[in-house]
Amino acid sequence: MSSKQHTNIPGSKFLLTKGVNVELSNTCRLKCPGCGPRLFKENFKGTGIIRFNQAKVIFDTFQSVTMCGNMSDPIYHPDFLETIVYFRTNDNVVRIHTNGSGKTREWWKEIFSASNNNIKWFFGVDGLPKDSHKYRINQNGEEVWEIMKMGSSMGANITWQYIVFNYNENDIETCKDMAKTHNMNFIEVHSTRWDLHPDLKPNDLNKTMKRRKEMSKELQSNRIELDPECLNLDIAKDIMFTNKGYFLPCCECDGILNHMEFNNIGFFNKEFHIDNLKTPNNIIKMFDSNIWKDFHSTLLLTPELAPTECQRFCRKLPDSTKQHGRGLDGFAHQNVL
Ligand SMILES: C[S@@+](CC[C@H](N)C(=O)[O-])C[C@H]1O[C@@H](n2cnc3c(N)ncnc32)[C@H](O)[C@@H]1O
Ligand code: SF4
Ligand code: SF4
Repeated sequence: MSSKQHTNIPGSKFLLTKGVNVELSNTCRLKCPGCGPRLFKENFKGTGIIRFNQAKVIFDTFQSVTMCGNMSDPIYHPDFLETIVYFRTNDNVVRIHTNGSGKTREWWKEIFSASNNNIKWFFGVDGLPKDSHKYRINQNGEEVWEIMKMGSSMGANITWQYIVFNYNENDIETCKDMAKTHNMNFIEVHSTRWDLHPDLKPNDLNKTMKRRKEMSKELQSNRIELDPECLNLDIAKDIMFTNKGYFLPCCECDGILNHMEFNNIGFFNKEFHIDNLKTPNNIIKMFDSNIWKDFHSTLLLTPELAPTECQRFCRKLPDSTKQHGRGLDGFAHQNVL
């Protein structure tokens, strides 16, 4: 029996309205130098491919599904087409992040035909299509641009996602116009992952660095109070489903170092493995278990005992903004334009 108080602690009802970020694979054909988990080989230990038949129960439990690709690009999953077809018939509201590379136009035609307006596509093209490979190593940006245009002309909901680097910082307006001409959305991402590849750092770092400096000062205050994004409905920090077959409270917990702390909490108990969660009710029961409720209770009532990652990523800041990704390093600050 848990000794914690669970009054006012959100359970499954709240968690299901948040949505889930699923990582069903661990492969990508590109080699972007700042790709988070790919920088550390250890992160891949124990990961694998979760097949559609195993994951289907997740799509039946959550209406909102994101495939942001914590450790992979979702399009290389062997059951990708089957999954898109299911999303459409199952009325899921979906966001898919992809580099768009390495698949034929015929393949994309089939995918876009199966897509509908509830499925939102985010293509990572960082710069003019001819330049994107400078960060997205092995990507054929010009071919991906053709696919994005084809998708848009077929009625798919396409967003151009653009990480700002020194080689593309003066092309933002041109690319924004290109997106508009072809009826696409445009998102500008200001990454903070510069320490590992300073050669790509933009000259105009004002937006990113100003915020980073402010945050360093704010974090020096030693009063720990959390503003957990996983418990805030206005912020898109979904429940995470990992390619190890387990649910976690959010994607920040999905790394080898963080796993150790989260392991002790009980999220990796065998009974919580996807192969033992056969129905939406099993998943709901897991979210209403003491393990999950104790975790959320710690965040809200005894934040000084919360995992290091939560204290770092979700510490309450005096002027906390609603921006996604408030970590000190390694997280993109996104402006939806
Ligand atoms: C690891 S990727 C996986 C999904 C997909 N392969 C892609 O690249 O869009 C997850 C997210 O991180 C973004 N990303 C990649 N490199 C980044 C960087 N240096 N800074 C911030 N975000 C980055 C991607 O664009 C994507 O939205
Ligand atoms: S395309 Fe995405 S998953 Fe692949 S290496 Fe680049 S950021 Fe990582
Ligand atoms: S880092 Fe911790 S507190 Fe923040 S969203 Fe993730 S699980 Fe919740």
